[in-house]
Formats: sequence, structure tokens, C-alpha cells
Amino acid sequence: MQTTQKALVCASFGTTVPTAAADIAGVEQALAAAAPGWQLLRAYTSGMVRTALAGRGQPEDSVPEALARAAAAGCRRVLVQPTHFLWGVEYDKLKAQALAAAPGFDWLRVGRPLLDDTRDLRALAGAIGALYPAEPGRAVVLMGHGSAHRANVVYPALQGIFELQSRPDIRVGTVEGWPGLAEVCAALARSRASRVLLVPLMLVAGDHAQNDMAGPGPHSWRSVLAGQGYRVDWVRHGLGSEKAVQDLYAAHLRGVLQEDGAHGL
Ligand code: CO
Repeated sequence: MQTTQKALVCASFGTTVPTAAADIAGVEQALAAAAPGWQLLRAYTSGMVRTALAGRGQPEDSVPEALARAAAAGCRRVLVQPTHFLWGVEYDKLKAQALAAAPGFDWLRVGRPLLDDTRDLRALAGAIGALYPAEPGRAVVLMGHGSAHRANVVYPALQGIFELQSRPDIRVGTVEGWPGLAEVCAALARSRASRVLLVPLMLVAGDHAQNDMAGPGPHSWRSVLAGQGYRVDWVRHGLGSEKAVQDLYAAHLRGVLQEDGAHGL
């Protein structure tokens, strides 16, 4: 990389699915455009993903590695911007890693996740609603990741916002949290939907989208819903490829840069 004083480390979970890398790159480019003069560095937080990519000869930096690269290049100011959706396990991990490296810099900040507060949730719900306008007889089913972390509350909250935005045709489910596919199926059964559009509620259309959501196996959401009589179609890209979502990330980043505008950035 070029020698520069300011580095923007874009930290993503990462993906081993080659087509899904475009979802991450789209957000990285939007972040770079929102931070002129900052050198963009990529970091992937998933050790499993990095090991798999290294095995294919496509190594990617971890957060500590990207920060070491920035320091070696003479950067004194570093902004770590996660592409993670939530204050979840992965966010906690990368924040701890970034703060551990902070003494090596004059200034280091970690940006907020995409879904930080109610305003963010409303903005994402509005963006998704605009991407997929209501159609008679069609339900839009979003597949989020979900987990046992307290940040999982974002998913039922998002469902509530769709209801409040008069879009009950958009249903939120998760692979590993609550609500799950059972709750989605129950809501669909109460609706008049005969068609379902599956949409990854994830940055990338990676392993979960390709297998758990739209895979040919009997337990994928696509197969289960088709088995219940719905005509099922699905979206092949992650939210990271959507301009409206890239804009939300960029707005967060500009917020951080403006907050510290008085401090010689
Ligand atoms: Co997972």
C-alpha cells in the first residue's frame, strides 16, 4: 500500500463464496468514497474464512494484521469500520482487537454496526421495502443470521417496523436465532400469499443464502416453502450489493469523521 497517514480498515466477517465477495467489495468502495484521503485496507474477522481462503492462495488480513500493515506503512490515524449488522459476537471480537492495537496509533476509532439504533432499523426497513414493493399474493421473506446474543433482538424489532410501515407482507426470519422458519411459515399461512420471494438479510449471499435459504436440500427454506405449496423465488445477491444499503454504511462513516472533525482529522 501507499504510505499515507490515515487508514480506513473495512472489517467484514468474510466469505468463501467467490460470487459473494462482490457484496463486500460494494460496501468497501462506498466506504472508501465517503472517506477521501483515507487508505482502504480490508480485514476479514472470521478465522475459518481466512484459513479457507489462504488454502486457495487468496490470503486476507485479520483485523490485527490489517492494523499492523497500517502501522508499518506509517499510518498514525486509523478508523476501523465494521460491515457487521449488529453489536454481536463478531463485533465485540473485532472491537477488542482494534482497541488492543490503539496504543500504536495517535488516533483509532471503531465505527458502529449497520443496525445501531431505531433510526438505523427504520432506514434499512425503508430501503428493503423500496427494493421490494408490495405485490398482491406475494410475501417477501428475509433470512437473517440470528444468534443467542442479545443483539438478536434486532430481528423481531425489524419485523415490528415492517408492520408499522404497513408492510406485513415482509417477514423476518433467522437461521440461528428467533424468529425462525417456523414463525415465518405460521405468518405466511395467515396471509393470502401464494408466492414467496426469499431475500438474504445478510451482507453477502454466501454459504447461508446458497444452502440454508435457497439450496436444493430438503431442509432449505426454499424446499420447505415449496413443499407447503408456495411458488418460491430468491434473490442471488447480498444486501452489500444494494446501493441503498451502501449509502447507509457511508452515512455512518461520515458521522464518525464529522464527530472528530474538530480534532485535526
Ligand atoms: Co453462520
